[in-house]
Amino acid sequence: MTFDWQLANECFINEMSADKNTDLCNQPDLIIDTDENLSWASEELVILKNSFFESLDTHALELFNAWSNKSEHCSLKVSTYFQAYADQLHSYRGRNCTLVEIGVMEGGSLLAWKEWLGPGARVIGIDINPEAKELEKEGIEIIIGNQADPTFWEVFLKENNDIDIIIDDGGHQYFQQALTFFCILCHAKRKIQFIVEDTSTSFFSNFLEQNEESFVSLMKQVIDNLNLKQIFSKKGLSNWRNDIDLQIVKEYQKIQSLCFYSGLISMKIDPLKGLIPLYLYNVNRRTKKEDLRHSGCITGVKFTWPDPIQPRDVLFKGLVESKNKLLVDVRKKTK
Ligand SMILES: C[S@@+](CC[C@H](N)C(=O)[O-])C[C@H]1O[C@@H](n2cnc3c(N)ncnc32)[C@H](O)[C@@H]1O
Repeated sequence: MTFDWQLANECFINEMSADKNTDLCNQPDLIIDTDENLSWASEELVILKNSFFESLDTHALELFNAWSNKSEHCSLKVSTYFQAYADQLHSYRGRNCTLVEIGVMEGGSLLAWKEWLGPGARVIGIDINPEAKELEKEGIEIIIGNQADPTFWEVFLKENNDIDIIIDDGGHQYFQQALTFFCILCHAKRKIQFIVEDTSTSFFSNFLEQNEESFVSLMKQVIDNLNLKQIFSKKGLSNWRNDIDLQIVKEYQKIQSLCFYSGLISMKIDPLKGLIPLYLYNVNRRTKKEDLRHSGCITGVKFTWPDPIQPRDVLFKGLVESKNKLLVDVRKKTK
């Protein structure tokens, strides 16, 4: 299958330009990186810049400013991460909290975290490279270790039992991301917000061992377990399919939520709260209304299952015949 990315991009930019009248000239310049043989035209750059700044709320803009001001400490971020981080972490700002980031490099992001979270924040960097220790003179605690080593996590999490946030911006290989996740899940004794950056590497062909199974495919399985937690509610037991491994669902009970952004995944791990979902009524009786949910089953509607690797047509099954056979084919627009 060939994809005309240039055509798709042009349409996208035109759609973006339609509602961009705001004058955002006062915003700082964006230093945008592209492949050597590719570039954005100057009118596209105006649209992209306006669209970026318009997409940020105040927390995200302050995070962007804290990060872009650290220009002596080179750092690369995808533009959509600022709002994602602001959504997930703004409630920690101005509070006493401990943030750990795997992957120090020049320290640009660690210094931004310290400024953005405020003076009550303890900020720790983990890196496999002993040179990362240089950043200690800037007031960041640095621990040298390998994120793919379970023994490292066992010791580190035992010695630091006040951690609120862990960000993985380390090696980005599938086994590193997966082992980091398993170790944190296994050792978490309190609420931890765990965020993995650059999960788009799950689709890179030049990364080790991650084309069949990847970190993103692991996370899709975690979503299954999150939904299956309700099986422990003692309600509607006969509804569930009978091939579910309850031991696995139980092991993942500590995960309370999972948020997916473009190239970034955030999850709340909390071993102390909401382990068993309960079905609650607001009154001590059952409803007297008939539930007509089964009478709405539609049949004959074809839907393009939006799997970008193996797109396929799926036909809905139900009782009511639909006249409109083809409901959605997202690829039609780009043909
Ligand atoms: C993408 S850079 C981090 C950039 C930094 N967070 C920033 O935004 O400015 C990745 C870092 O992860 C470190 N790293 C790679 N593999 C690692 C591993 N297995 N354990 C710990 N650190 C690792 C590298 O040494 C490098 O400093």
